[in-house]
Amino acid sequence: MQDLPTIAWHDGKVRILDQTQLPHELVMLEISDYPGVIQAIKSMAIRGAPAIGVAAAFAVVLSVWHEADSDRAGFLEKANKAINEIKQSRPTAKNLFWAVERMRETMAKNLNRPLHEIKIELLRMAQWILDDDVQRCKAIGKFGASLLPDRCAVLTHCNAGALATAGYGTALGVIRSAVEQGKKIQVYADETRPLLQGARLTAFELMEDNIPVTLICDNMAAALMRRGMVQLVLVGADRIAANGDTANKIGTYGLAVLAKHHKIPLYVAAPWSTIDMELNNGNLIPIEERSADEVRRFQARPIAPDDVPVWNPAFDVTPNNLIDIIITDRGVIRPPFNVNLAQMMKQ
Ligand code: MRU
Repeated sequence: MQDLPTIAWHDGKVRILDQTQLPHELVMLEISDYPGVIQAIKSMAIRGAPAIGVAAAFAVVLSVWHEADSDRAGFLEKANKAINEIKQSRPTAKNLFWAVERMRETMAKNLNRPLHEIKIELLRMAQWILDDDVQRCKAIGKFGASLLPDRCAVLTHCNAGALATAGYGTALGVIRSAVEQGKKIQVYADETRPLLQGARLTAFELMEDNIPVTLICDNMAAALMRRGMVQLVLVGADRIAANGDTANKIGTYGLAVLAKHHKIPLYVAAPWSTIDMELNNGNLIPIEERSADEVRRFQARPIAPDDVPVWNPAFDVTPNNLIDIIITDRGVIRPPFNVNLAQMMKQ
């Protein structure tokens, strides 16, 4: 996956690998305005909590990049308007708000400088957010790999890999790192209805890197566990509250309940930018609800009555008592998460 960057800045444009077309088409989008990046986030051409954080940062850069360097009031108005719109694009992943806040701070700090210098500072910060994410994923990978036995089978959900980040991945970063250390890891990937990130992205990404992966439908996880075919459930996160309650792709909570029943540990892997210490618990995490047609259709093909009512939450919240370990770029966190997250926050 090294040769396929999820997102990059190139010559006044943002290049995004269109994940809606994977695995069969490799399409690079070239976007030169911030509404285009917002559209890519909403349509999930780019998705995954850390990756949409990086996209949001570049969207802020684009909001002013092509503006004249003379009109200070107009420049600031454009940037603030863009920031507000970017924050409306997807509500659940903390990383998006974290990244936009870094961009807002950068602007505030450089407010009195010439406009062309502010542009450069914004670009520098967006690029830092991208590079920093790869470093954080590698740190998560290292901490997490040490927890995995030399030989095991791991069930993962959605895609928490290189495609969901600026590179390397969180949950898949742990697996990548374990494989790099010579451990023998067999991955089972849930297909992840309705948008099939597991089937389309995780299966593709792991096969590209020659990591053994077997695809299952979401409703096969219980049977897999009952037969003793997996020793660990390892997932990413979109937002983690101060008590460790974790929002992740819809279906994660179900896996956590199943894992508890079968006495299989569940680990969550996420960078610190996913943690929201301002929310006391997971009930406060905003959960995105997406279009009914994502459920009524299988890609373009209708699979249900056109007008059947649908409930389509994109995420669910796994309560902290179903999570054994949270692996972050700062280290491994065990329960009680409210105490141990707060302690690690201070470091
Ligand atoms: O709706 P998506 O595809 O953006 O959801 C992504 C997930 O839920 C991932 O598991 C999560 O963002 C972790 S990504 C490192």
